[in-house]
Amino acid sequence: MRFVVVLVIGLFMGLAIAMSLANALQRRQAWPRGLMHVMQHDLAAAREAARGQQCSTPQMAQRAERLRLVAAELQPALLPADSQDRVLTQYIEQLASEAANWDTASACPVQAEALTRIGHACDACHRDYR
Ligand code: HEC
Repeated sequence: MRFVVVLVIGLFMGLAIAMSLANALQRRQAWPRGLMHVMQHDLAAAREAARGQQCSTPQMAQRAERLRLVAAELQPALLPADSQDRVLTQYIEQLASEAANWDTASACPVQAEALTRIGHACDACHRDYR
């Protein structure tokens, strides 16, 4: 009987420790994942709009602005402050430069092309790091 009680207590303690570890790990990833989802949302909305006729809108400018701001947060979010990763940094710079080339004053097809290049910059990093 005592053996069973000890076993059950041990199992519960193991479970509690595993759960709190999993929780901590998940919270650590919450910031980069959040950034990714915001970029995903803006990119998808912009692509949708770029299929239409009217692309030089304040909403489009806002999406571009937000994408640039969020992309600028990738470095601190993905890399611990004291570490370096030349390739990762290169991917981040590539995305920043494509995002900078997205001119929301241009015609829809031109913007659609810029958005495709931004999408490729996302994919390039995902291929190696996701
Ligand atoms: C420099 C590298 C890099 C770039 C550039 C990048 N990502 Fe990511 N992305 C990652 C990594 C790493 C993960 C995995 C994060 C994790 O699971 O903790 C990820 C995950 C994601 C996810 C899944 C998030 C989740 O909850 O699992 C989405 C969506 C995403 N990225 C969208 C994008 C979009 C859209 C862009 C471009 C605008 C982009 N990413 C650019 C590195 C990058």
